[in-house]
Amino acid sequence: MMSPMKVQRQFPRWKTVKPLLGWHLPRFDGVDRKLQRCITIQDLRTLATHRVPKAVYDYVDGAANEEISLGRARETFSRIEFRPRVLRDVSSVDLSTTILGRSSDLPIIFAPTGYTRMMHYSGEIGIATVATQHNLVYSLSTMGTTSAQELGDAVSQSRRWFQLYVWRDREQTRSFVAQAKDAGFEALILTVDTPVAGQRNRDIRNGLTVPPKINSKTFFNMATKMKWWFNVLTTPALEFATFRQFTRPLSEIAATFFDASVTFEDLAWLKSIWGGPIIVKGIQSVADAKMLAKMGVDAIVLSNHGGRQLDCGVVPLELLPEVVAAVGKKMEIYIDGGVMSGKDILAAIGFGADAVLIGRAYLYGAMAGGMAGVEKCIEILAQEMKTTMQLTGVTSIAEFTSEYVNLRQN
Ligand SMILES: Cc1cc2nc3c(=O)[nH]c(=O)nc-3n(C[C@H](O)[C@H](O)[C@H](O)COP(=O)(O)O)c2cc1C
Repeated sequence: MMSPMKVQRQFPRWKTVKPLLGWHLPRFDGVDRKLQRCITIQDLRTLATHRVPKAVYDYVDGAANEEISLGRARETFSRIEFRPRVLRDVSSVDLSTTILGRSSDLPIIFAPTGYTRMMHYSGEIGIATVATQHNLVYSLSTMGTTSAQELGDAVSQSRRWFQLYVWRDREQTRSFVAQAKDAGFEALILTVDTPVAGQRNRDIRNGLTVPPKINSKTFFNMATKMKWWFNVLTTPALEFATFRQFTRPLSEIAATFFDASVTFEDLAWLKSIWGGPIIVKGIQSVADAKMLAKMGVDAIVLSNHGGRQLDCGVVPLELLPEVVAAVGKKMEIYIDGGVMSGKDILAAIGFGADAVLIGRAYLYGAMAGGMAGVEKCIEILAQEMKTTMQLTGVTSIAEFTSEYVNLRQN
């Protein structure tokens, strides 16, 4: 039998133990430590559940019907397979690109999202400020809680696009276009995937209204989110900037204003009254992409609205290569839906997208920690992109082609 090894022991000394201790006394310097500990967009999403009422979180996180479109978009991203090249100098990486002829620090565009001040009181202006600090495009929704003029005045250096629905009232539509022009918006995004609103079951079940109301069902959850309520009650009233005073359930708003009869002719009319770059958002077929290329639009967004309108729609990432092959040389092609990481963004770039819109990712950041949370979101995505590029042997966005990415079939 082997004799046990003789170990010489000593009493633990503070000098050796101290550096091993991972804890320290709490500091009260205003830094949001929970936010700083987030290392993925999923972490921001989890933190958001602790910071805003359930109805607000569900409004962002949810999608239409059984939420299959969104689930499939995420599942498709999980099948990305990178094909790295090695023994290349990747010590320095350039994440910048060109979007509609101007430089952008990242191939990321902030998607238009409605009611943003409901997620955090800093709202559209706070988020556009972060976008501008990173030289990124910010898109303002017509359903926003800040008007085109307010945003233009507050963040005058921002690169800003205005998202539009063609409303039943065409004169109202014309007036939105004029306001966007006056407020220095660079491009118009026409969203075309919402002739009628999809059915978002979570919002209906939560009885979500703008502004949110406290009722017996929501009271308990609301009461645990006092900071959010305090901010709502002590900042300007939450309302739609374009139709102030409208306080009905969300599901009724689209039914009141959206126009189910909009066609390509309306797009031609819009082009004529706008006179600047037009991006059409919500394209889900090669045939429509071809029609739009023929009409001379500047860009399209392959998108199913993050699965928030039609459920079981086509997965934008799967459609992308076909659309790029058909019209990629005629206009810019962007994509969105389910983007939760820098890897997702790079995969879309690899399949031929010129840029990627993010929606929920930055809203999770906003709900988790306002402007600092949005900053964190961009930091996470940029870092993930950088590391992935280095590990695949690529040093610029233009270089990242389909040679480096594949979609597994299983
Ligand atoms: C809370 C929320 C509100 C949105 N509001 C609008 C809107 O007003 N107009 C629009 O064109 N798209 C809107 N979208 C869709 C986004 O522009 C984008 O297509 C979608 O968020 C992309 O998917 P992702 O959130 O998974 O990134 C909204 C999305 C979310 C999450």
